Amino acid sequence: MKKALLTLALMGAAIFSYSQPQLRNDNIEEVIKAMTVQEKATILVGGARAAMVNGVTSGMIAQVPGAAGNTRPVERLGIPGTVLADGPAGLRISPTRQGDNRAYYATGFPVGTLLASSWDTALVEKVTSAMGNEVLEYGVDVILAPGMNIHRNPLCGRNFEYFSEDPVLSGKMAAAYVRGIQGNGVGTSIKHFAANNQETNRNENDARISPRALREIYLKNFEIAVKEGKPWTVMSSYNKLNGEYTQQKEELLTIALRDEWGFDGIVMTDWGSKENTVKSAKSGNDLMEPGNQNEIDRIVAAVEDGRITAKELDRNVRNMLNYIVKTPHFKGYKPSGTPDLKAHAAVAREAAGESIVMLRNESNTLPLKGGEKVALYGVTSVDFVAGGTGSGNVNKAYVVNMVDALEGAGFTLDKALKDYYKEYKAYDAASKALNAGGARSFWGSSKLSEVAIPAAAIQAEAEANDVAVVVLGRNAGEGADRKQMDDFELTQIERELLQNVSTSFRAKGKKVVVVLNIGGVIETSSWKGLADAILLPWSPGQEGANAIADVMTGKTNPSGKLPMTFPVNFIDHPSSSDFPYNYAPQQSRFGGFGRRVAQKDVDYTDYAEGIWVGYRHFVTRGVEVSYPFGFGMSYTSFNYSKPVVKVVQDGLEASVTVTNTGYVAGKEVVEVYVHAPEGGLEKPDRELKAFTKTKSLAPGESQTVTVKIDNYSLASFNEAANEWQAPAGNYQVMFGASVCDIRAEAPYKMKKAASWPVLAAFELDSD
Ligand code: BGC
Repeated sequence: MKKALLTLALMGAAIFSYSQPQLRNDNIEEVIKAMTVQEKATILVGGARAAMVNGVTSGMIAQVPGAAGNTRPVERLGIPGTVLADGPAGLRISPTRQGDNRAYYATGFPVGTLLASSWDTALVEKVTSAMGNEVLEYGVDVILAPGMNIHRNPLCGRNFEYFSEDPVLSGKMAAAYVRGIQGNGVGTSIKHFAANNQETNRNENDARISPRALREIYLKNFEIAVKEGKPWTVMSSYNKLNGEYTQQKEELLTIALRDEWGFDGIVMTDWGSKENTVKSAKSGNDLMEPGNQNEIDRIVAAVEDGRITAKELDRNVRNMLNYIVKTPHFKGYKPSGTPDLKAHAAVAREAAGESIVMLRNESNTLPLKGGEKVALYGVTSVDFVAGGTGSGNVNKAYVVNMVDALEGAGFTLDKALKDYYKEYKAYDAASKALNAGGARSFWGSSKLSEVAIPAAAIQAEAEANDVAVVVLGRNAGEGADRKQMDDFELTQIERELLQNVSTSFRAKGKKVVVVLNIGGVIETSSWKGLADAILLPWSPGQEGANAIADVMTGKTNPSGKLPMTFPVNFIDHPSSSDFPYNYAPQQSRFGGFGRRVAQKDVDYTDYAEGIWVGYRHFVTRGVEVSYPFGFGMSYTSFNYSKPVVKVVQDGLEASVTVTNTGYVAGKEVVEVYVHAPEGGLEKPDRELKAFTKTKSLAPGESQTVTVKIDNYSLASFNEAANEWQAPAGNYQVMFGASVCDIRAEAPYKMKKAASWPVLAAFELDSD
């Protein structure tokens, strides 16, 4: 009976169409009333990539070639379709369009990890406001970025897309990223919510995490990004969390995200929603991507038989309509298709230069004087890694390599070496694809095998040149984690190359500079002594090699700092014992999607280390590292003085004066850590609570920098009470140049203990 009535109602709406309001931003309720169940289900399910034909906008079906997905239109009610495309290192669309012979390249900006190495939220906003302009002008409504999962372990294949091992740095970077993009009137999708910290078996893996670690580490960054960035959308991840798919977890998608943090946008699934569409919709996952007809049918059927209530359905539809009215497609924006790529390339270069981390500089090896004869080693010097593979790749017009960058900066390169690597590159078919703007392969890491150079040749090169630059490269990407051997660790050929270059050049009193063109942390402790200087540009985008040259010549004074720890050994990370490393990547019948690894022990991952992630572990337990969190060198030096902590409403204001005590202008990142008093939960010795960066200080110049920290941010999560708690007592506020290099301190007295209860419980094994 009920079903018959409903069918009648559906038919009524369709046949008589008596109510046909056209969507405006002030009549959403009226439109919801006018929508049939079928129409409502339609806008909750993506348009499916397969439906994107010929790459033209036909009627209200919004399409951009190469965009990852879209939302479906309902023409009758003036509801347009919208377009969603990746991120995060730039807009991922196809550079070619059928019947159109111009190219639609996007700018390849630095990857997320490099942006985070800037510790500069204003810089990140500048980058993403340029990126967001490309989103708008190429006809896209939402960029599926930033990626912001925590670097739980160095081997996660997508760490390059993500920011940091620390939730405050990650959250603030993400918020800045979101503000920059959304300032253009287009949206972001912070991803992957949540606990998507490995690629192995990513579709099915169950991340088992204590409520405390979840709250303090894996959700904290999303909480900050939601509150401070106000993203239009959130992408739920593929994996499970404590027994339930995140895309079906109400505690996560509704209770924490919306009820606790005030999120008012839409949640969409990562690309490949699960069978249980009904549970997803009920849990607060508004949009299924990439979407298929089955999902529409399932929603309609569930509404008919009452498994999805009208209230739940309308809640999701309302979220979707609120999103749609904000989009350029709804507003009828006519994209120019011609963003200023030249200006954006300059932004990409500046951002890379501002973010490069100098890890070592013995006897002021850098900057070079200029004009030196350089012996340039390493296949990545010609086959430069601008970004990672997978959905994080950007189809850019070009990638500057190290040869062109160094020659452009006035160095003379050893001709025989240059020709040798260029010849090697010519034979490397995969690198040709990169040169044409694509990635080597879509999935996972592709091998960048180093080639051996005979020791005798290196000796001759040491004679003929002034300095050696060795570029070590790694690529990584979606769909596979990295390996410990020959990836985290150097390969035998790389070791021999470094050893021989170091011996030969040093024998002639000449220096060796190592450039790490990598996507994730590698082992450095065993070989760093062979280098006189080490620069870490990560995967710095299409202009990154020029930015490296800028640092080498001293045009840019490096001011980046590490957003994660470089351990001595891989196994020093407590997460390493639970990380499924060294599994061979699995092929799947979906050609990459839905990789499922058969081993039982990768069906779940115990986050047994709890909150002891990254420096929280290394610093508190005194475990030696190769380079600590927050570390990075400059061509000048800084003095910290006059630490002051003032009590303000609900928190504290901390300031310190930074003086440039060296001989060249430079910027300094100031990291503010807090050591909590005894009496509460067991806590890490210190935790990052705020950070800022000075302006460029001339030699002798000082700047007083100030940060605000509220009491809530000082709290830790008490699982038994299900609340955040900050004990009363003396907190020590520490101003650091790295987590291990505290330069000034001041106390903050909290008179009364404070607590903040939460709504979601996140019990382990809640299913
Ligand atoms: C990735 C997402 C991406 C989506 C669309 C998925 O495989 O995990 O990060 O946004 O594809 O391309």
